[in-house]
Amino acid sequence: MKTSIKNRFIWLNGKVVPLQEATINVLSPTSQFGANVFEGIRCYWNEEEEQLYAFRLDDHFNRLKRSQRLLELDDTYTIEEMKKAFVDVIKANEYKEDIAVRQTLFVDGFGTWHSSGPVGMFVAPIPKAKTNPEYNKKGLNCCVSSWQRINDNSMSPRIKCGANYINSRMAQREAVKNGYDTTIILNKDGKVSEGPGSCLFIVRDGKLVTPQITDSVLESITRDTIIQIARDVLKLEVEERSVDRTELYMCDEAFLCGSAMEITPVFSVDRYQVGNGECGEITSELHVEYLKTVTGKQPKLDNWSTGIY
Ligand SMILES: Cc1ncc(COP(=O)(O)O)c(C=O)c1O
Repeated sequence: MKTSIKNRFIWLNGKVVPLQEATINVLSPTSQFGANVFEGIRCYWNEEEEQLYAFRLDDHFNRLKRSQRLLELDDTYTIEEMKKAFVDVIKANEYKEDIAVRQTLFVDGFGTWHSSGPVGMFVAPIPKAKTNPEYNKKGLNCCVSSWQRINDNSMSPRIKCGANYINSRMAQREAVKNGYDTTIILNKDGKVSEGPGSCLFIVRDGKLVTPQITDSVLESITRDTIIQIARDVLKLEVEERSVDRTELYMCDEAFLCGSAMEITPVFSVDRYQVGNGECGEITSELHVEYLKTVTGKQPKLDNWSTGIY
């Protein structure tokens, strides 16, 4: 297994190369302006079957295509080619453990911020799946950000684009400077949107509530998975609607979610304790079912797993 960061292989523009050789032009629009779209895809190792399963691969590639089209990047790679690159580079690394994979389409060459190409692609499996410190915490103490979430008429949060993360960066750095683990960002109308790299759910009176997609939220695959688990497996009522700031202070449970973060409970918001300040019951149940689902052990839902080997 080539799990050390230094020894891993990257897929870059048609070739599997050692990390040190996976370099790009400093003058490229991706380097200068963040002109790229990407996905963060999780794979889970199944010990009994000796198989590595990628979770909701088609949904990730469909979202990547949507991001590429919205930014009018050249349509250089088909979904089949993207999938083959993904599988080839994981196999080259011989990973037999849980991993996260970054797959990015980027504007290469010597153009500028509005160039449509040439479009390159890299695929980078990341052995340590939970990359950010807040993703490894048992529960999060959050603030509400003083920064406003980007919106569909400025930089659409629906597009998973590198440059969008400058908004997340400002919010996250402010939160950490002020002693919080992470932050919840409000949209231009003052309604709750999402975390800097995750979606948000709260529980009120036994009901699961999450901001609607049109409230400046990424079309998150984890969010969709959780809604389906809640409805089809746990038979919970789910509301997708606008959420007010004060609902964060009075909810019974809250959690952030995403491919990297999975389900991570929120213990407090702006120092208001959420529930009893621990992981809530519904959050725990959802987490158990989520882990079953991503490892292909949830018979009540679609089979969302693609075997790599
Ligand atoms: C801003 C933002 N929201 C939500 C998510 C969760 O998306 P997904 O569940 O598709 O990983 C992410 C994940 O990267 C994100 O960056």
